Amino acid sequence: MSTEPRSSEPREQYTSSALRVGDVDASPERPVGEFIGTVVSNDWVNDEYKHLVLKVHEHALRAYAGQMFHLLCPSPDGAEVWMRRPMSVYRVDKDKGQIEFLYKVEGRGTRGMATLAPGDDFNIAGPLGSGFKLEPDWKNIVVLGRGVGLATLAPLSQLAAEHGVGVTAILSARNPGVVMSKELFEGLGARTITVVDTDGSSAVENVEKIIEGLIAEGKADAFFTCGSNRLLKLMQRLGKKHGIPGQVAVEQIMVCGFGACYVCVRTFEVDGKRVLRRVCRDGPVFNMQEAVGW
Ligand SMILES: Cc1cc2nc3c(=O)[nH]c(=O)nc-3n(C[C@H](O)[C@H](O)[C@H](O)COP(=O)(O)OP(=O)(O)OC[C@H]3O[C@@H](n4cnc5c(N)ncnc54)[C@H](O)[C@@H]3O)c2cc1C
Ligand code: FES
Repeated sequence: MSTEPRSSEPREQYTSSALRVGDVDASPERPVGEFIGTVVSNDWVNDEYKHLVLKVHEHALRAYAGQMFHLLCPSPDGAEVWMRRPMSVYRVDKDKGQIEFLYKVEGRGTRGMATLAPGDDFNIAGPLGSGFKLEPDWKNIVVLGRGVGLATLAPLSQLAAEHGVGVTAILSARNPGVVMSKELFEGLGARTITVVDTDGSSAVENVEKIIEGLIAEGKADAFFTCGSNRLLKLMQRLGKKHGIPGQVAVEQIMVCGFGACYVCVRTFEVDGKRVLRRVCRDGPVFNMQEAVGW
């Protein structure tokens, strides 16, 4: 046994210590890491949602659409905040070395997150899970999301743009004030259609008409959805009717975030049989036709 005194600096002893920007990565082959990012900005986008921009170690920039990070949120009130919070990647800006999150300020974790100011440290673990995938023969996709689901779907615009795939994004919201991600989709060349509860345009019958129109135009090689059971059911039905494949991003309460605790298990239906899958590790993105609604 070594008689050398051990350093009191934890970062010298643990190769798994969180990486800051510029740190040497002792395990670059690891898919997942723990990072301490620096807050660039954390601004309100409307009454309910904030947009966090974080400068991170380059290892964290491997995240792709549909993957998530597990966030160690600061306390909003001085008392402990137990467990990390799962959050989809909203955008990865490789040129600036930044990762972005779009989040709804809800409970203690996200209220703590809302207190972050430029220059603050923020500890994130990831990227976790299996995200969206595009098949080579898909030339045009339809993205349909509601509420916070739009934060999860938004990076699909980036993925599709990189692959030369056309996107029509149907953005559903309670009212025009809380429609999100429109600029991000449009900035990357997507066509957007906004539907809201206040004028009734978000009704399932109307959204169905819009999607049927896109199918008739040949603009729907695949479907993507997140954030609404009603809209998932609609896309499943239209997918079955027209033989269009699809993917859904699923949300579930998580503890570990990497497959060990089984807290996030949900039921799926595969070839007529009910199977259990972990949302954090087997997903959060799944074959749309195998998802059982909630
Ligand atoms: C894969 C995935 C991606 C997500 N992406 C986003 C996103 O991009 N933007 C966003 O605003 N929200 C997202 N969420 C939801 C986000 O995780 C919850 O809003 C957040 O955990 C709430 O924490 P809280 O402490 O503020 O709320 P509280 O209600 O106080 O949380 C209490 C506990 O419940 C859990 N919890 C509460 N709501 C949810 C939920 N909807 N999903 C999972 N766990 C929940 C929390 O993690 C915590 O352990 C995502 C969830 C999952 C599973
Ligand atoms: S959160 Fe632990 S297995 Fe998914």
